[in-house]
Amino acid sequence: MLADTAPQVGPAERDSVPAPKRVFIKTFGCQMNVYDSERMSEALAAEGYVETSEPAEADLAILNTCHIREKAAEKVYSDLGRLRDVKRERAESGKETLITVAGCVAQAEGEEIVRRAPVVDLVLGPQSYHRLPELLARLRGGETALVETVFPDEDKFQALPARRAPKAVSAFLTVQEGCDKFCTFCVVPYTRGMEYSRPVAALVAEARRLVDRGVAEITLLGQNVNGYHGEGPDGEATTLAGLIHHLAAIDGLQRIRYTTSHPRDMSDDLIQAHAQEEKLMPYLHLPFQAGADRVLAAMNRKHTAAEYLDLIGRIRAARPDIALSTDIIVGFPGETEADFEATVALVQEANFAHAFSFKYSARPGTPASTMDGQVPEPVKRARLARLQAVIDAGYQRFNGTFVGRTLPVLFEKAGRHEGQLVGRSPYLQLVHAEADPALVGEIVDVEIRSAGANSLSGVICG
Ligand code: 5AD
Ligand code: SF4
Repeated sequence: MLADTAPQVGPAERDSVPAPKRVFIKTFGCQMNVYDSERMSEALAAEGYVETSEPAEADLAILNTCHIREKAAEKVYSDLGRLRDVKRERAESGKETLITVAGCVAQAEGEEIVRRAPVVDLVLGPQSYHRLPELLARLRGGETALVETVFPDEDKFQALPARRAPKAVSAFLTVQEGCDKFCTFCVVPYTRGMEYSRPVAALVAEARRLVDRGVAEITLLGQNVNGYHGEGPDGEATTLAGLIHHLAAIDGLQRIRYTTSHPRDMSDDLIQAHAQEEKLMPYLHLPFQAGADRVLAAMNRKHTAAEYLDLIGRIRAARPDIALSTDIIVGFPGETEADFEATVALVQEANFAHAFSFKYSARPGTPASTMDGQVPEPVKRARLARLQAVIDAGYQRFNGTFVGRTLPVLFEKAGRHEGQLVGRSPYLQLVHAEADPALVGEIVDVEIRSAGANSLSGVICG
């Protein structure tokens, strides 16, 4: 019998097994930070760490930060205040807590972080995550306030351990990092560095591992993802469309998405991929930022409003049902009322499925932060509210067109209500339906019965 042959573990032996070290990771900002947090967690798992959602249990706390707008950056300092209290309370019971600030605030502010928040033990830029175990060892060896924000020569993706079992049906895969576009409002070229594309072979291998573990949908990530130009199997640079075709050949991978794209890099082969590649979902996030050409020029976007509209016309000609989403900034320096009206007009003309809109936020070190004509906060606030009303109406209209239609939904997890699952339509809408939990990970036809503010709901087709 099993019980007779199983080794007997007495209490004393159980006590001698060291408790695992615990890491708390809080992720701010974009999907690339979500991906980076997962990879840091994997690097730490190899060192015996398990993740916890409780800061009070954490031997190591990591804030993976975002610097894109002021609000995002400031949140980090209020969290550091809370972690300072946790660290003090744990120290009273003899427990160490190492605090790390990672991500784009780490890259942008560097030493300033340890000056402003001396509780921080390690400041770690996004290009140095593979060095985390070594840096933690140095901290344990007595070094303090380490700041690691150089752009090293090694490929961090190669140096990170292979990916563990992912938790989800849908996974992110960073294929490109950094940006050379230098939009005048944006910190990304400074925090993430110049464009770098990972080779096709490494990405296909990583995608295969994800699919082997049950992932059905992969979203390819890059700050300027359609500028992808990684080395292909023939040694030549491959476009994003080329990479998508390589990935689509993986059996079991059912859906491919990518984000975020720049209009200037929306090449013909990528547009054609939307017509030809069944696994490529009919959804495209394509920021236009502003509707007035004068503002677009000051932003260094290198496209006009008419060029943007022409581009989306060509994309829709290739894939008529494609859902488009966008990013928009209001209150860029010098933006007049007429300029703002041009933004609203473009939103109405483009018929977006979805849009993300932001008040301009002056980022230190960017050219726009010192431009004349900074727009007062109340004006920005009022313009944002007006724009968001137009966007929301468009979103409702878009979702409303699906009532009565049947959509293939990839179920991702249990919904909020008992017996319900939630998944995504090809157009990235959240869809709720009553369904057997065994359908998580499956694509199932759902007849849409109603459209709410942020999601659809329907019934599974019998
Ligand atoms: N202020 C406001 N919004 C910004 N974004 C980037 N930088 C700024 C800034 N300084 C927005 C852009 C971008 C999105 C990710 O964030 O719209 O596409
Ligand atoms: Fe920033 Fe995007 Fe412009 Fe690059 S293309 S500088 S990431 S807004």
